[in-house]
Amino acid sequence: MKTFNVALLGLGTVGTGVYRIIAEHEADLENKIGSRIAIRKILVRDIAKHRTRVPESLLTTDFAEIVSDPSIDVIVEVMGGTHPAYDYIRQALQANKHVVTANKELLAKHGKELLTLADEQGLQFRFEASVAGGVPIVKALKESLGANRISQVMGIINGTTNYILTRMSNEGVDIETALREAQAQGYAEADPTNDIDGFDAAYKLLILGSIAFGSRLDIEKIYTEGIRKITPIDLEYGRQLGYTLKLLAIAKETPEGIEARVHPTFIPSKHPLAAVSDVFNAIYVEGDAVGELMFYGRGAGQMPTASAVCSDIIDVALNCGTRKVCSCIYEKKQLPMEQTVSRYYVRISVKDNPGVLAKISHEFGENKVSLHSVIQLGRGEPVPLVFVTHEVTEANLNQAINGIKSLDCVYSVDNIIRVEGEA
Ligand SMILES: NC(=O)c1ccc[n+]([C@@H]2O[C@H](COP(=O)([O-])OP(=O)(O)OC[C@H]3O[C@@H](n4cnc5c(N)ncnc54)[C@H](OP(=O)(O)O)[C@@H]3O)[C@@H](O)[C@H]2O)c1
Repeated sequence: MKTFNVALLGLGTVGTGVYRIIAEHEADLENKIGSRIAIRKILVRDIAKHRTRVPESLLTTDFAEIVSDPSIDVIVEVMGGTHPAYDYIRQALQANKHVVTANKELLAKHGKELLTLADEQGLQFRFEASVAGGVPIVKALKESLGANRISQVMGIINGTTNYILTRMSNEGVDIETALREAQAQGYAEADPTNDIDGFDAAYKLLILGSIAFGSRLDIEKIYTEGIRKITPIDLEYGRQLGYTLKLLAIAKETPEGIEARVHPTFIPSKHPLAAVSDVFNAIYVEGDAVGELMFYGRGAGQMPTASAVCSDIIDVALNCGTRKVCSCIYEKKQLPMEQTVSRYYVRISVKDNPGVLAKISHEFGENKVSLHSVIQLGRGEPVPLVFVTHEVTEANLNQAINGIKSLDCVYSVDNIIRVEGEA
């Protein structure tokens, strides 16, 4: 029986999970794929730190020892960061080794070059764990849904922000309190910027959108807005209107081009994504043949992520050298945010005078913004008014908001949140 030899780069959370699965499922894997999967080398920074957990003979601090070893078939990068991961993966491909990685940031920044190199070399390059941890969405989009034209991919793909929004919504706590809880539970890093400001979701959306539409998305053109401005009061008003707030990553193919954006979004409380709470991830996909699909599961964590990495190793073993990995063959236009179309929730503080509603409605109408609903919550000075619009371009909405801000009867436009779907 052939042995398929693996080298791990990194033995942290995910690397340890991969090592465990391969060690514990050895016989099962052999039966399933007809060859033995063996970990031959593990790159670490400090051998002393790891020698009690894995046989010391597997550990090395020298990448050259791995890349020059002709018996290694696949290199599994689970170090994270872009450097030296990028250089190591390049060297691995140049040395004719297949690559598996869990690294979304690396793919978002260098994916095009690395996938092209893999194709030129006739090698496989797999990255299932880079989006939504254990949820098998990459393979589903690439292979299982390969016969479809995908029109939309929309998901909750950052568990940290979903946990925070769930706590804010269920308990009425503010974002700082919810973030501290997330950090205490190990769901958020000490520096939460990547999650809270939407960058982590944008990296993942780039990967999903590029596969779904067969056209590489540009990270600079993905509109990215995090959850910092969300307050418990917006969640409460949204709830009264029949909406639940989620940080959504949305990619849609329209006749004008591809929309790709990450922002807090109100969705109808009956929408399947509204029920996805805490650290769970879910991705909603629409294909022309298959219709609507929803993928749901654990978007992070040691064993779910290791499960995805191991599925890639199995695929590489099964398909050695038979597939093309880069599916971005088009150069499609990616729309600027001003041209995207959405519905909006707008909360405004106004003077308690007669005729105020008419003046604001006039400004909306002048800018082709038609209104779906208006509610006034309480009286007093100032009076909070909440409008929900019908679909309108971002440019028209912005013009209307500028006009509204200049009205004498308006104190302030307090929040604007995009709304997807009808409550
Ligand atoms: N954790 C998750 O739930 C999850 C989910 C999806 C995707 N991912 C992705 O998986 C990758 C790994 O994440 P992780 O959570 O396992 O990270 P981690 O726990 O920090 O592990 C990274 C490991 O790589 C090692 N390392 C870093 N640079 C190295 C170098 N130059 N040479 C040798 N070893 C090096 C570190 O060594 P030291 O111990 O010496 O620091 C550490 O053991 C990242 O790309 C992450 O985005 C993680």
